[in-house]
Formats: sequence, C-alpha cells, structure tokens
Amino acid sequence: MKLTVHFLPALADPHQLAGATVVVADVLRATTTMLAALWSGARAIIPCLEIEDALRVAGSLRGDAVLGGERGGRRIPGFQLGNSPAEYTPAAVSGKTVVLTTTNGTRALQACRAARRVLLGAFVNISSLVDELARADDLVFLCAGTDGQVTCEDVLLAGAAVRELQQRMPGGIDVNDQGQLAGAAWQSMVGALSRTSPLADALRHSRGGLNLRELGFESDIELAAQVDAMPVIGELLPGEWRVAATSRPDPSARPHC
Ligand code: MLT
Repeated sequence: MKLTVHFLPALADPHQLAGATVVVADVLRATTTMLAALWSGARAIIPCLEIEDALRVAGSLRGDAVLGGERGGRRIPGFQLGNSPAEYTPAAVSGKTVVLTTTNGTRALQACRAARRVLLGAFVNISSLVDELARADDLVFLCAGTDGQVTCEDVLLAGAAVRELQQRMPGGIDVNDQGQLAGAAWQSMVGALSRTSPLADALRHSRGGLNLRELGFESDIELAAQVDAMPVIGELLPGEWRVAATSRPDPSARPHC
C-alpha cells in the first residue's frame, strides 16, 4: 500500500488524487458533523461551497432538505442547523437530505473530484474507516486545515490511521514524510485509540479546538473525541455530488448523542 498524507489540500496535486482512495479529514468539525448526520439517518449530504449554492440546491429539493453549515463557526442566518455534530439528531435529519456548506471541510471535498473513492474521516468512525482502508492500494489522507493553516486535529487523525495501518501491515506500507510526521505526532501526543486517551485534551489545544472554545462550542470537541461512537462509513458517491452512508451497523445501536 502507498499511503500519502497531505497536511493541507493546497499541498496535494489534483492529478495525484486521480485514481486514489482519498480520506478527507476535518475533525473540528465538518467531517465529524457529516458522520453525525449519517449516523442519525440522514439520507444524504450535499456539500456546497457557497451559501447561495446551498440555498439553490435546498430550494430544488423542496421540503426534503435541511440546510446546515457555518461561517466563522456560527450558524448561517436562515439555516436550520449550524455545524455542531450534536445538532444532527435523528429528529432533525432522519430521512432528510442535508445541504451543507462549511468554510474548510466542504472545500476540501471539492479538491477530490478526480479521486476513485472519497471517504469521510474523523475519530468517531476511525476503526470502521481503517477496516475499510486496509484494502486500498493507493491511499491519500487530505487534511482540511483551517483557512489555509495546518491544524493539529486533522494531522492527529491522519497519524492515528497511519499507525493503525502500520500495525496491521508491518513493512507493507510506503508512507510519505507528512505521514511519518503525522504518525509521530499521534504517538507522542495521544498514542492510543481509547476513550481514556488524552485525545480530547489534544483537540482542545489544537487550532480548531481553540477557535471552537472561543465561540463557546467546547462540547463539540468532546463529541469529536468520542472514538468509534459513530461507526459509519460516509462516502462521496461516484458520479454524484452527494455523500451517503455506504456501510453502517445495526441502527438499534444508535443514537449516542
Ligand atoms: C469547516 O469546515 O470550516 C469547519 O468545520 C469549521 C467549523 O468547525 O465550524
């Protein structure tokens, strides 16, 4: 397996993504929130770059759509939901199509248009994700970052996945330097995928975590740190511009939030 980590979408050559399985990571909060929506039974998520696009798409879906997203971390005026995973409950989104626009996460998805597969990565689904990824030949982790800056929370997610995959395939993975750095950061800052690991603390002190704390969304950090709480695979469907759950366990296991 070839495993490439990019700390920012701008560091990825779109041609290199062609044919690869790409995991987009925006742990705080876009990919965690999308997984929460799928875990709560949303039919699909349509990621939009701009607010105007989201309004137009939601209008075309009539009553079936829920508008969600943020600008500056806060809910967009006129939208039903913001970008907190806790808002995406079964009552809010089950059976609905979520039309979502966020500052960085939905932009990172746009960068993957040429990829063979595009999956959502977060700590809430990491073990299911790693199971799914173990079959890939050419795997890329694309960290969304924040406003063009590298963010620790996304690098930690990539690093945790690098370490898990290395344990499963010792010697069998060709990891780029950013992947090696991500794995080392994970090992020294957190080290274990368990509920008692210092993950929430590391996320709290990351750039994204500090932003959320300033905005009063500290509880979203706790949710994002709940390892494997939402074991669903979220995938951008080939040929369509929408994200759906392509694998999820028995729904009686949900919800947790
Ligand atoms: C984004 O996509 O920019 C982030 O998820 C921002 C946020 O956490 O609200």
